Amino acid sequence: MISIEFSENYAQGSLIVFSFADQELSSSAKLFDEKSQGALNKALQSSKFTGKVGEIISINSPQNLSANRLICIGLGKKEKITTHTLQKVGAIIAKTLKNTKEESINIIFDDSLKLSCSHIGFGILLGSYKFDIYKTETTTNTFEKAIIITKNADISNKEFKDLKSLAKGIYTARDFVSEPANILTPAEFAKRTEKIMKKIGVKTEIYDEKFLKTKGMNLINAVSQASSNKPRLVVISYNGAKDKNASPIALVGKGLCYDSGGLSLKPSTSMATLKQDMAGGAAVIGAIQALALQKAAVNIIGIIPMVENSISGNSYRPGDVIKSYSGKTVEIYNTDAEGRLVLADALTFAQEFKPKAVINLATLTGAIVSALGNEYAGLFSNNDELATNLTLAGTQSNEKVWRFPIDNAYEELLKSDIADFNHMGKTGAAGSIVAACFLNKFIEKNIKWAHLDIAGVAYLDDKSNPLSPSKATGFGVNIINTLILNSFVQ
Ligand code: BES
Ligand code: ZN
Ligand code: ZN
Repeated sequence: MISIEFSENYAQGSLIVFSFADQELSSSAKLFDEKSQGALNKALQSSKFTGKVGEIISINSPQNLSANRLICIGLGKKEKITTHTLQKVGAIIAKTLKNTKEESINIIFDDSLKLSCSHIGFGILLGSYKFDIYKTETTTNTFEKAIIITKNADISNKEFKDLKSLAKGIYTARDFVSEPANILTPAEFAKRTEKIMKKIGVKTEIYDEKFLKTKGMNLINAVSQASSNKPRLVVISYNGAKDKNASPIALVGKGLCYDSGGLSLKPSTSMATLKQDMAGGAAVIGAIQALALQKAAVNIIGIIPMVENSISGNSYRPGDVIKSYSGKTVEIYNTDAEGRLVLADALTFAQEFKPKAVINLATLTGAIVSALGNEYAGLFSNNDELATNLTLAGTQSNEKVWRFPIDNAYEELLKSDIADFNHMGKTGAAGSIVAACFLNKFIEKNIKWAHLDIAGVAYLDDKSNPLSPSKATGFGVNIINTLILNSFVQ
């Protein structure tokens, strides 16, 4: 992770200054323009620089300046700049200077902006993430330190501390999602989770197949039973609240280390990226790590069923009837609708902890990608206040969510001839809503519950978002961190 410092004085390395829309230079940009005898203005004129967000111009060996480079970046219209603009610009700086030979760079913030420059540092961290552990030759050598120049160095430093914790959580989620399924088996996923939590003094319990069998978590076992990589159920307990016995927030994450579809096998092309099917679980782990690093005054229980949906002579089948942990029986129609099954048992278990609220994150349905594409996650909730708070946290964190109905009318589609209900509708109509309605059947009355379907936002083929340079976005860590800090800390 690149080191970020805040200081009143700049050091060796490139100088980065800002321009607003229409070439309105920030005060420091003006100063360096004067020092370099108008070199910056000249360059802006000749390149028709407009100053829109992220637009960039670089002057090598500027006159009268000791820096190798003077870089000017657009921030757009002054009144429209948000913390997200600053984050994006930070990420663009990281991307632009990816191959620099300089050890450090200086970013000269405009203190007249009434926003914290710590967000530039946060953007640099998110934008410089890479996952290259399997490359035998690594080529990029980026800068190691960014110094953000501001008169409010002390405050910015303090504000940045929490953002750095959040970035660590996001890195964790991205690392997990990026790992291929031959490495990140359920056992390995559980072991690595425990290691991360141990480092920050958070308790992790790992349960194996035997436990699941004795407990009667048969839906988790059914999904897992074809794989030679045995399942795990991971329970993380973070007790940051003053009252260690105060009821926790339960976070439940889908942890499918691989989803082949099972006997209802996916076509090869759809299967190619399905190592991402544990992104919900990864987000739960990342969010708890981020909150624990910030010492958030809240109790959280994280529950992640870790399994592989594989194919063998021992596969569960379409037509099987399985008794869930809740006691309700479920008829299987398609073994590729496995996420809701493992979540059903995990959600039943989560409610035993008498939580204040239960939130689950899951790459649950392809249908949510048809509905919302790669911009918004689907939000489903039985509680308006929780849904509103999640929507607000989504806007603040720029991990946007859009609410869908969970109306009883859809439950018609879950009717089964021989079991309590089917796990899906037979036509595929309203696929994401029907999946949420199935989960809702396992939520007890009076429990506040929300489900985020993140299938469209956890893993992107397109790497054009500077804040997310890897395919794995780490979606979920920021919105959950924001929600909990906004609504649940004492
Ligand atoms: N894990 C998939 C959903 C998914 C698809 C996640 C693409 C990320 C990217 C899920 O288990 C699944 O296969 N869902 C089926 C459900 C259907 C059989 C009712 C789907 O969406 O096709
Ligand atoms: Zn599936
Ligand atoms: Zn799946």
